[in-house]
Order: sequence, then structure tokens, then C-alpha cells
Amino acid sequence: MVEKPAALRMVNIEKYFGLVHALRNINIEVGSNEIVGLIGDNGAGKSTLVKILTGVYPPSSGEFYIAGRKVNPRTYSVKRAHQYGIETVYQDKSLGEKQALWRNFFIGRQITYPFGFINVKKEKEIAQEIMLNTIGFRGRGITVNSKVNKLSGGERQGVAIGRAMHFEAELIVLDEPTVALSLKEVRKVLNFVHKIKEGGKACVYITHDMQDVYEVSDRFIIMDRGEVVASITKADISLKALDEFLLGYSQGLKDKELS
Ligand SMILES: Nc1ncnc2c1ncn2[C@@H]1O[C@H](COP(=O)(O)OP(=O)(O)OP(=O)(O)O)[C@@H](O)[C@H]1O
Ligand SMILES: [Mg+2]
Repeated sequence: MVEKPAALRMVNIEKYFGLVHALRNINIEVGSNEIVGLIGDNGAGKSTLVKILTGVYPPSSGEFYIAGRKVNPRTYSVKRAHQYGIETVYQDKSLGEKQALWRNFFIGRQITYPFGFINVKKEKEIAQEIMLNTIGFRGRGITVNSKVNKLSGGERQGVAIGRAMHFEAELIVLDEPTVALSLKEVRKVLNFVHKIKEGGKACVYITHDMQDVYEVSDRFIIMDRGEVVASITKADISLKALDEFLLGYSQGLKDKELS
């Protein structure tokens, strides 16, 4: 079997916002079926890194590769990132509020008859299939006709992830998807990440919740003030040790160790 190329590889990525040096010499890889927890204190550069990956900002310099293909920063965009198989799930912002659930699955990728009308029946069938088999919503009042604004935060996350999985996203980015969710909803999001793993895809999971990120990740990439300071596989660190490692950075203790 031919080994699949890494879902993402960044080489010497730098990002400046004016004089702010937000990312310094970023060299990372995310395997084709790897769940990477991207962690670090506020302002470490996590969101900036994923915004470069998802086509929101171009890097100031450096190169990156998606599934082995080199990205051209001049033509890269959010839309192009979708074409490359990258989906991003943000808290609450990723779904059209007043739409029925089934419509939401097909924004920008309608199934049409040859003469151009939307094939509503087909779209509803597929939405139903995704809800049952990919997301695992069974009963409890949610149907394909439910309005998105009636869903809980966790259910919205589920729909967004279900969409990402159905359209065979190769790499799903979750930037603090569980902020303000109830424990039960957080559990669902974590289960979805397990499904990404089982589905053979990759994920970058950003959160400040160490217990959550520890559960779902294969490896942790730790950032501090714009730099990647460590990459640690789960087998090599306990949750407690990871917590203490991070705390060391947030309290500036690592600086003292170095001097
Ligand atoms: N659009 C922007 N313009 C100027 N500076 C920015 C911009 N976006 C981010 N920054 C700066 O870049 C640095 C990294 O920010 P980023 O949002 O990537 O951090 P983060 O690791 O996601 O933090 P958090 O955990 O708080 O979300 C910060 O110093 C931030 O102020
Ligand atoms: Mg952030």
C-alpha cells in the first residue's frame, strides 16, 4: 500500500501583522489520519496558524503543502481550501441560522437536475443519511426540516462536522469548538473527533481544555508566543505532565530554565 502524504506540512512559515511577529519559523506536519491537539496560551498564534492553513490569511513567508500538493499563496483562498479538502468548524458561526437543516448541508454544492432545479428529494435523503449515520442524531425531535436556530450549540457543531465528513474533508480544523457548550454537548463534539479518526481523516483540534484535547489527540503541538516549542505524542506524556508542561510556559518558567 502506498503511504498517503501528510495532510499538512508547513515549512518555515512566518507571519507578521505590521510589526507584530505572530508566527516564527513554523515547521509542522499533520499525518493523513492523525488528530493533532494544537495548544498554547492566549496569543500563542494557534488561530493565526490555522487561518493560514484555511486560506484566511497568506503567510508572510514560507511554504505549505496540503496532501502533498504545494499551495500557491497568490491563488489560495477559503474556497480553494475547501477544494483541497479542508473544512473548518467554528463555534456557532458556521451554519446559516434560519435555514432548514437539510439545506445547510448543501450550501455552495447543490444537487441539481440537468435543467438546473435543486433536487430537494435527493438532498433531503442525503441529509437524513448523514444525520443518522455520520452524526448519529436519532429522534429527539430533530429532523432534516428542523431550523438551525432551534438546534443546541453541540447539535450545530454536529451538523457542521457531519457536513465536513460527508464531503470527505481530508483535514478538519476545530478552533475552540466547545466554548460555551454544556458537558453533554462537549461529549458529542469529542465523539465526532473520534469519528474523524475512525473515518481515516485528519484533524487539528484547538482548545484550552487539556482533558478534552488529551482524550482525542494522537499528538500535541505546543505553541508559545508565535513559536512551536514542542511536539509530543500522547504515549510519551500523561495528562498531568502535559498540564504542568503548559503551565510552565504560561508562567514564564521555561524562560528561566533556558537562561
Ligand atoms: N489580524 C490581526 N492583526 C494584528 N495582530 C493580530 C491579528 N490576529 C492575531 N494577531 C496577533 O497575533 C498573535 C497571535 O494571535 P492568535 O489569535 O493566533 O492567538 P491564539 O493562540 O489563537 O490565542 P487564543 O488562545 O487567545 O485564541 C497575538 O499577539 C495577536 O494579538
Ligand atoms: Mg485563537
